[in-house]
Amino acid sequence: MSRRPTPIADLLVVDDEPGIRQALQQMLEYEGYAVRTAENGPQALKAYADQVADLVLLDIKMAPMDGLEVLEQLRTEDPDATVVMISGHGNVETAVEALKRGAFDFLEKPPDREIVLRRIANALAERELERENAALRSGGPVTRDVIVGDSPALEEVLQQVAKVAPTKAYVLITGENGTGKELIAREIHARSERRDKPFIEVNCAAIPQELIESELFGHEKGAFTGAHARRKGKFELADGGTLFLDEVGDMSLAAQAKVLRALQDGVIQRVGGGERIKVDTRVLAATNKDIVSEISEGNFREDLYYRLNVVPIHVPPLSERVEDIRRLVRHFARAYCADNGMVEKPFTEEAVDTLTKRSWPGNIRELKNAVERLVILGSRDTISADDVQTLTQPAVDRSRVNEAESLIAKHSTFSDYRDAAEKAFLGRKLSENDWNVSETARQLDMQRSHLYKKIEKYDLSRDK
Ligand SMILES: Nc1ncnc2c1ncn2[C@@H]1O[C@H](COP(=O)(O)OP(=O)(O)OP(=O)(O)O)[C@@H](O)[C@H]1O
Ligand SMILES: [Mg+2]
Repeated sequence: MSRRPTPIADLLVVDDEPGIRQALQQMLEYEGYAVRTAENGPQALKAYADQVADLVLLDIKMAPMDGLEVLEQLRTEDPDATVVMISGHGNVETAVEALKRGAFDFLEKPPDREIVLRRIANALAERELERENAALRSGGPVTRDVIVGDSPALEEVLQQVAKVAPTKAYVLITGENGTGKELIAREIHARSERRDKPFIEVNCAAIPQELIESELFGHEKGAFTGAHARRKGKFELADGGTLFLDEVGDMSLAAQAKVLRALQDGVIQRVGGGERIKVDTRVLAATNKDIVSEISEGNFREDLYYRLNVVPIHVPPLSERVEDIRRLVRHFARAYCADNGMVEKPFTEEAVDTLTKRSWPGNIRELKNAVERLVILGSRDTISADDVQTLTQPAVDRSRVNEAESLIAKHSTFSDYRDAAEKAFLGRKLSENDWNVSETARQLDMQRSHLYKKIEKYDLSRDK
């Protein structure tokens, strides 16, 4: 695993078992962290008072003070203390209690290297993010987002990211809307040697086709009406860094041909310019389309696909990693409150359960929006299951919205669209009236004969 570009942090490991202390110390020092250890609560409190640690790993079962007491006292003395509890097998409940009292996270014994490192890096990054958010309110710099979750499905993606990031390989990131494709692209860049160079994003779906060439490759002064000055394109701006072609599946065939040429030759030409400019750009692309079927329908060039898809990374939908919802909810609530100078509103267990059971067709983006809405509109200090019920839309309404959207996406001419919409509409109304044609016609204010004709035209029947 490559090292995270985290600045070295000071950690304090508190555990009464010498074996665990040593194992953690060794593993963490190897990663470049500065590690101090303490074998009981009083020692830990003294060590922290001598010098604040960026993160404290704190065992729960200790004498004379147990971990919860140490936690309380640490947080009283330093409300910003970041504490990750280490819990033995039997005391996960205590660990949950610790979360309620302000611990940041907990790890289970025996500590697994990958998990420990990841959670610590996450906690530090998230803490950093909170500080930056605080700094941002007073005008400081912004950085990338943390990737939250430790489900097996996400771990697998992150392992691929760790492997591919340090290489120069092109990566095609696929996945449904809102699954975190862009976040993954940024993570790949941030973990690559190019991290100090630009990460340039192009949303291929948002640029009008006639402008895409100039957007990507730039133009010379006077190349076309409106080209008042020479302008560099995104490929050139990303020289030495990473170019992120977002929604690549929506690029026109003409633009695809040009991109392919640039990738094959490693050189670009500005619109209206003769000079061939060498660029060293790593390309990451993302799409929520099924590119293979786009290829078979003639909408996407196969040769470009092979070039972009050197390493495929598929980001699974939230339904395949529901175990991450709990953490995501907490993360989004915290981040939103920190951003807006609010006191954090905790979610009750039942509220989280309700969110976990709901379906999320818009994936993590939808969950994030829902959490923010709950934090804003939820009335009390805690968000309850009732808040969730009343303030988030039931999934069924969402699926209807998607149905309408997919109808629009599927049809390219107006008459095809109108027919499909009419068919769907009549089918739904008939089924709501249990296929009583007279009743449906009356409700829709339609002639019965007319409705019969439509039924025939669209071949509508009860079992379709
Ligand atoms: N694992 C995660 N941890 C924290 N935040 C996440 C995670 N995954 C996604 N997000 C957040 O969810 C939102 C959607 O993510 P992102 O924009 O990367 O998705 P996307 O797959 O590119 O979506 P689209 O297909 O709609 O463009 C962003 O605000 C992102 O920061
Ligand atoms: Mg995106």
